[in-house]
Amino acid sequence: MANSKNLASIFTIIIILLFSFTAAKASTFHRNLSPMSLGLKKEKLSHLHFFFHDILSSPNPSAVRVVEPHASNISSSTLFGFIAMADDALTVGPEPGSKLIGKAQGIYGSAAQEEIGLLMIMNFVFTEGKYNGSTLSLLGRNAVLSTVREMPIVGGSGAFRFARGYAQAKTHTLDFKTGDAVVEYNVYVFHY
Ligand SMILES: *[C@@H]1O[C@H](CO)[C@@H](O)[C@H](O)[C@H]1NC(C)=O
Ligand SMILES: *[C@@H]1O[C@H](CO)[C@@H](O)[C@H](O)[C@H]1NC(C)=O
Repeated sequence: MANSKNLASIFTIIIILLFSFTAAKASTFHRNLSPMSLGLKKEKLSHLHFFFHDILSSPNPSAVRVVEPHASNISSSTLFGFIAMADDALTVGPEPGSKLIGKAQGIYGSAAQEEIGLLMIMNFVFTEGKYNGSTLSLLGRNAVLSTVREMPIVGGSGAFRFARGYAQAKTHTLDFKTGDAVVEYNVYVFHY
């Protein structure tokens, strides 16, 4: 008799444990996954090369100033405080009519008081070839008067899921009168 009582209580404990285990499982919001379950095979390194056209002049500007600093600060030699929104063409070559491969959409603004240093928050949206529909996100500091500026690539979508890397920007042409610039970009990213 004592034995069957023991068995019954052990059985009860097992049932309680099973229930609490399932309950814990049902209330959790995260789990481990194998990369294969998302179809991720081998990480690769890609190099993208294109030209970025930042056009401020009329009649078809691709970047517009949306925020100006307070009037008393406008004399700032670094334009500290201005913010612009851009939808800039990305092309294969530096000429304005060169084949379009995507757009750089985002904001940039002067974030430095002592020298010209932009904060860049940009999505590169590709519209050609195998990267059509995929994006890369750039977040970094752009000291536009330096020869080569390096900025982190912090992520991406589509073919660029899990992307990380860096972009190097080099001014190709700059019109000091209008502010129009063509910038050569070399982007190096790890992705799957
Ligand atoms: C910027 O504007 C503020 C507020 O008007 C003023 O106190 C400050 O001195 C200005 N700075 C410069 C560099 O003009
Ligand atoms: C890119 O993808 C869009 C949407 O799927 C499609 O309409 C367009 O034709 C594609 N462009 C190229 C060049 O493949």
